[in-house]
Amino acid sequence: MLNIKAPAKINLHLEVKGRRPDGFHDLESIFLALDWGDSLCFDCSGAEAQCAIKIAWDIPIGGAVIQPEENMVFKAVSLFRARSGFMRGLRIRLDKRIPLGAGLGGGSSDAAATLLALNRLSGVGLSPAALRELAEELGSDVPFFLSGGAAFVSGRGELIEPLIVPEGLSVVLVYPGFVSNTRLAFALLDADGNERCVSRSREELIQALGGKPADWPYHNDFLPVFLAAGMEVYGDLLGELRRLGADFAALSGSGSTCFGIFSDEITASRAVEKFRGCGGFLYLTFPLAYSTRGH
Ligand code: C5P
Repeated sequence: MLNIKAPAKINLHLEVKGRRPDGFHDLESIFLALDWGDSLCFDCSGAEAQCAIKIAWDIPIGGAVIQPEENMVFKAVSLFRARSGFMRGLRIRLDKRIPLGAGLGGGSSDAAATLLALNRLSGVGLSPAALRELAEELGSDVPFFLSGGAAFVSGRGELIEPLIVPEGLSVVLVYPGFVSNTRLAFALLDADGNERCVSRSREELIQALGGKPADWPYHNDFLPVFLAAGMEVYGDLLGELRRLGADFAALSGSGSTCFGIFSDEITASRAVEKFRGCGGFLYLTFPLAYSTRGH
């Protein structure tokens, strides 16, 4: 039996570069894993080559639900088996807290946790490079979750540079109760003729993480596109987070979760209390203080 956590992430910064020949987009992003997320329990039992997944849903109303066989855990198991030949029966329990389509990387984190768990349970011992290859095949955000912590992420999402996790920060997540479709968000961005925000150099972005959140030069390229498309809810939520004392507020990934970064935990707790009346679902959490999970 093996228990493993699958943390959520936020994107402090997300710049979308050009569309590539393979249809994906090059990105430059700062990812931060959070001390909150899903958890999984793996047990080697049951018939050879079988995989039973039980999902316990603990997500807010308005969150989507999917069938176990469409789950990223199932896809990660199939890929790991195909690559390693590990065919023992598996029973997996997934405690699902991260909403789907929320920009928090839930499915990707579950997939990465599954690869790490199977590599340990099976004794196959795939190398970190082999695991990264499988992660990349599963999705653009999956490679980040093999190491977690804070990272400068580029390419399609596969180039990961670990960064020092900022200390003493509180994170308030506001999930507005609806799903955002990543593929459609990228299509909307491609169709948008407006100018993007000023591009920052890699060095400037990395260096800023060690400074005060109030001075962070970070932005999310999806936000102006969503606002121009009439999704005022994002502007309202971010404005409210700032009004309640967030030093920095942004959209995570391609939505739908907004978050506020607070240098003071008491202000963050008060913001959560005040926010409750404004709708949306809230979580108060912290950056996860590790930079590598080890393989
Ligand atoms: O890789 P993933 O399955 O998370 O991507 C979902 C969709 O998001 C892709 O099909 C693609 O349309 C878009 N995407 C992109 N560029 C990226 C990541 C995702 O265009 N770097």
